Amino acid sequence: MIRVLVSDPISEQGLGKLLEAEDIVVEKKTGLSEDELCAIIAEYDALLVRSQTKVTAKIMEHGTRLRVIGRAGVGVDNIDVPAATQRGIVVLNAPDGNTISTAEHTFAMMISMARKIPQAYASILRGEWDRKTFVGVELNNKVLGILGLGRIGTEVAKRAQAFGMKVLAYDPFLTPQRANALDVQQCTVDEIVVAADFITVHTPLIKETKYLISEREFGMMKDGVRILNCARGGIIKEEALIEALKSGKVAGAALDVYEEEPLAKEHPLKQFPNVVLTPHLGASTEEAQINVAIDVAEEVLKVLRDEPFRNA
Ligand code: NAD
Ligand code: MLT
Repeated sequence: MIRVLVSDPISEQGLGKLLEAEDIVVEKKTGLSEDELCAIIAEYDALLVRSQTKVTAKIMEHGTRLRVIGRAGVGVDNIDVPAATQRGIVVLNAPDGNTISTAEHTFAMMISMARKIPQAYASILRGEWDRKTFVGVELNNKVLGILGLGRIGTEVAKRAQAFGMKVLAYDPFLTPQRANALDVQQCTVDEIVVAADFITVHTPLIKETKYLISEREFGMMKDGVRILNCARGGIIKEEALIEALKSGKVAGAALDVYEEEPLAKEHPLKQFPNVVLTPHLGASTEEAQINVAIDVAEEVLKVLRDEPFRNA
C-alpha cells in the first residue's frame, strides 16, 4: 500500500482523488512537533503540508521511503527544498488555486486600513459612537506601488485600477509589452518607493527579496505612505516598519504575514492604532482551500504513479 501523511489542515473535499484511490492510505495527523514527525515519517511515501509544518532536513532524513512532499499553497519556504533535492524527494506546490483569494484579501486589507474599519468596529463594540477618530482616505487617484507582479500582484493591479488607482510596478520579469497590456507603469523599486501612496509586496521570500523594504526605502518614502504585506514576512523589515510607524512616516500598515509566525503575544506591531493585522489568512477561503488541495492531490498522485508532474 502507498501511504500518504497529511500533517496540516487541508481540505478533504479537495483531496478526493487521493482518498478515492484503492491502493493509497491517507492519514491525517496535524499539529505534530518535529520529533513526532521524525518518529513516524518512515511509514509514508508522501507528505502533504500547508504552511504550519516545517519540513526540515532532519524529518527528511527519517523519511526513508518519502518520495514526494506536496505543499497545498504557493510558498515552499517551510520546506527545506535543497535537502529534498539532495535526497531525490520531489517538492510540489499548488501555485494557482489561492491567487484570487489572496488578491481579494490584500484589497480587503487596503480598504480596511484606508477607512480604519477594524478600529471603528472595535470602538463600536466598546459602546462608543466616535465619528472623528476614524476619518479615512480614498483610494481613488492614489498611486499604488506593486513589488512583484506575478499571479497575485497582477490581480491586485486589476482591482486597484477598478478603484481609480494609478499602478506602478516592479518585477524583474516584467516586459514593457506586459506592463502595457496591464496598463501599469513599469518602474524601479526606488522609483516606486519615492512615488507611491500605498506600497504592496507580492514577491516570494528569497535571498533577493529579504528586507526589500528596509530603513533606506522607508527613508525615501512619501510622508503618510501606507504599507501592505500579504506575501511573506521578512520582505518588509519589521524593525524598520516599526520605526517608520513611530516617526509618523508611515500612516498605516496592513499585514497578513510576519517574520515569525505565529506573531508573538506581546509583539510591538500590536501597539499601533493604525496597523491592521490578520493571522496569515490570505488563502483562507473555502474556494482557495479546495482548489489548492485538488491541485496538490493531483500532482502528488502523478508522482506516486510515476507519471509526468509539475513541480515547484
Ligand atoms: P508568483 O510567483 O506568481 O509571483 C511572484 C512574483 O515576484 C514573480 O512575478 C517574480 O518574478 C517576482 N519577483 C521575484 N523576485 C523579485 C524581486 N526581487 N523583486 C520584485 N519581484 C520579484 O507568486 P504569487 O502566487 O503571486 O505569490 C506571491 C507571494 O504571495 C508569495 O510569497 C506567496 O508565498 C505569497 N502568498 C501568500 C498568501 C497568504 O496567505 N498571505 C497566499 C498565497 C501566496
Ligand atoms: C501560500 O503560500 O500559499 C500561503 O502561505 C497560503 C497558505 O497556505 O496559508
